[in-house]
Formats: sequence, structure tokens, C-alpha cells
Amino acid sequence: MTAITHHLRCTGCGAVIEGPEARSDFRCPNCNDLYEVEYPSWNTGPNGGAPNLPNPNAMKYLWMERRQSNLAMDQSGVWRFREMLPILSSPANIVTLREGNTPLYDLPRCAKSAGVDSLLAKHQGMNPTGSFKDTGMTSALSVAAERGFKWVACASTGNTSAAMAAYAARAGLRSLVFIPEGKIAWGKLSQSMDYGATTIQLKTDFDGCVRILTELVSRFPIYLLNSVNPYRLEGQKTPALEMVEQLDWNVPDHIVVPGGNLANGSALGKGFAEMQRLGLIQKQPKISVIQATGANPLFQWFNNDRAGLEPVYADTRATAIRIGNPASWKKAVRVIQATGGWCEQVSEQEIALAKAEIGAEGIGCEPASAVTLAGLKQLVRDGQVQREESVVLLLTGHTLKDSEYTIQYHKGELLQAEEVANASAAEQAKHNTLRKPPFVLEANLDAVLRMLEHEMKTTVGPTA
Ligand code: F0G
Repeated sequence: MTAITHHLRCTGCGAVIEGPEARSDFRCPNCNDLYEVEYPSWNTGPNGGAPNLPNPNAMKYLWMERRQSNLAMDQSGVWRFREMLPILSSPANIVTLREGNTPLYDLPRCAKSAGVDSLLAKHQGMNPTGSFKDTGMTSALSVAAERGFKWVACASTGNTSAAMAAYAARAGLRSLVFIPEGKIAWGKLSQSMDYGATTIQLKTDFDGCVRILTELVSRFPIYLLNSVNPYRLEGQKTPALEMVEQLDWNVPDHIVVPGGNLANGSALGKGFAEMQRLGLIQKQPKISVIQATGANPLFQWFNNDRAGLEPVYADTRATAIRIGNPASWKKAVRVIQATGGWCEQVSEQEIALAKAEIGAEGIGCEPASAVTLAGLKQLVRDGQVQREESVVLLLTGHTLKDSEYTIQYHKGELLQAEEVANASAAEQAKHNTLRKPPFVLEANLDAVLRMLEHEMKTTVGPTA
């Protein structure tokens, strides 16, 4: 990483620019589309000859070796793979919180519930600020720091802002957060304050926040860290590498991700495609994106005439993906189509049930992450995923990000009566088994024993 070895290519018209030439909104001046980072040496060698690609086995060995190192950049689950994202002039500019390194858990009971033989979850909620955003923030914020920006900013449904505030604080940069007032989980709002961001709650939704911020950054030297910034996706592609490394370089058949602004699925798709290009893997997984029914513009696009994307008014309790006009929709379409994946939508009731099922396996995630399990059930029902296929769910956020949702669910205060009434009998039975409201008792042993006796007679244990 001694020289800048990348450029930006417009994903619409193919125009190529140098990284620092990008406009403040990261859109192409010719066609208004988004850029992606490209590494020209992976395509052609000196004087237009064959590319001199790095040896894949040597890279695998090097990345394994780095696990023994105490260097911060080696301990980062993003920068350990730095040969795959040579976007900085100097590694000294890396801003890291030792992100990545997230576990791949098996979910045997969720597998049974979804109708597959085995199921894995890559838990990106186990990142330093509790969401997958850290992997993209370490890469893009390092670029901001290297290029001398003093201020960074994002519009967010809560997780991007938490991650940005933390990484900006580490780098000594000022950060500016725009969030929709009253529509993000408290845990996320508290993080941005804790990490010293200037936090602005706008009386609009996420899409309204994006509009105002885009205008602001066009007038002032503030570096935009939303996922339109192509350097975000460079970090966010690394969970794909980490995942296949954890599987001894075997590629799962299917990856299921939640869809909001639609950068995450795009980033993972880029990661898998580049790994195949460099000979690290021999095939790519199908990538499917799942949206909430109330925030489903991509699902609508796939199921209507497939012309331009029609923005929707977004409304879902999974506030992280409450987005009606996703910036990276074209990138997501390309990844879904290139890999043979699907786009599904799931209801609020299905999300709540899936979240409780994941929680009951001792893992826990935020509601937006649980759309993956709900979506997998749908894919299996539709015959798009076969029982024996290997599937990995991307759990994007930690359960403590939105504890209010969890408490309301278990107290029976989350879903409306008609939402529960629409659930199948089997789903209703599962809700009844999974709901664990707290018992409030007088402080005496008899009361506790009476309650336990009743509990033992009526409740089915987790292994049933
Ligand atoms: N899951 C969680 C927990 C998220 O926070 C987000 C997005 C997504 C899924 C969707 O990912 O946008 O790449 O399709 N949160 C953004 C934010 C928008 O501001 O924190 P995506």
C-alpha cells in the first residue's frame, strides 16, 4: 500500500476518474450514477499485457499469519485483508477499532424452522459499535483522514451514525449526524452522542435527511460517509472474505442479507466477485436481499415493470431499514441478477417471529437483521432454496441496539391484534412459546415457587 493503486469507475456510463476527483455527492456528473472502486492492475498488466495477479495461496497464508500479529491493522478483520482494498497511500493512515473478526454461528433450531438442513449466521452485530457499518467506516473514514478532511457527515437510520461518530472520534475528526427525529432506536442515538458527534434530529424521514445533507456537503468541505461513498463498500466487502476463510475457503450456496439503502448486498457481491477474479474461490454464492413489506422499493421493482425505481413512503418497526429511496438499488439489482439470487419482502409479524427465534438460540440481533430468517423461510416455501443447500444469514446489528422492540415483543405490546390474527396457526403457536415476558412478584419464596410450578407445567423448553 505504498502508492495509490485504484481508480473509480462509474457503474452507469463506465467513466473513470481518480479517487480525489469525485464530486461531494459521489455521483457521476455525466449520468448521476454511483462509482465503484476498481483496481486496474487486476485487469491488465504493464503495457496492456496480462495482469500479474497475486498468488491466491500466498495471500491465504499471509492473512492467516497476520492473526498472530499484535499490529492494529493486522488485528482488524478488514485490514488483515488489505491486499484486497489498496485504497490508502499509507497504512499509517488506517483508523481502526479492530473491527470485523465476527463469529459464524450455527442456528440449528432456526434451520429447522426455515426448512433447511443447516444454517449459519455471520454476526456482524459483534463489531465494535454493534453493527456491520464498522467494516465500511474504517475504510471510508481512513480515506477522509488521509485526504485531510476535518469534518465528516452522514444521514442515518442510526447504525451508520454510531459507527461514523466512533471512528471520527478515534481519528480526531469532527462528525455531523443527521437522523430522522423519533424514528431511530435509542441505543443508536445514544452512541452518536457518546462518541461526541454533532447530532441533528431532522423532522423528516431518512430520505429527507439524505436530501438536506447532500445539499450541505456540496457547499462545505465536509466528507460524506453515506454508502454512496464507494470506499464504504470496500470495507463492507471483507465479511465475504472472512466468511469463506472461516469455512476453509468453501463458498456457501446462498447468502441472505437485509435490504435498506442496498449497499451491503452490493458490497458482499463485489467481495465474492473479486475473490473469484483473483482465484481465491471457484464460484460465487447466490445473494438474496430481503426487505420489510413497509419499505420494499426493490421488491416492487422486481415485481413490476422493472423500469426506474419508484420510491415508496417507508414504514417499518425495523427502523434500520426504514428507507423508501435506496441509493444503491442499481448495484443491488446487478448483484442479485449476476448471482441468481432473489428479492423478497416479509411482514412485521414475520420479522418479530424470526427475531424471537434467533434470540432463543442465544444469539440475538436487531429487527432489521431478522428479516433474513423470515426471508429465508419465504425462499424455501417458494422452492428457491433447497433443503440441502448451505445458507448464511447476515445478521447486521446487535440485539441491544433496539432493546425497546424486544421488550415490547415479549410483553405482547409490539404487534397489533390484526397482525397476529393474520399469522398462521403454526406461527401463532411459535409466538406463544417464544414470548418470555418478565414476571413481577411479591418478594417471597412461595410466590416464586408457585410461579415456577406453573411455568414448568405450561412452557415448552428450547429443545422442543
Ligand atoms: N441492517 C442494519 C442493522 C442496518 O443498520 C442497515 C442500514 C441495514 C441492515 C441495511 O443495509 O442500507 O446497506 O441495505 N442502515 C443504514 C444506517 C441505512 O443509516 O445505519 P443497507
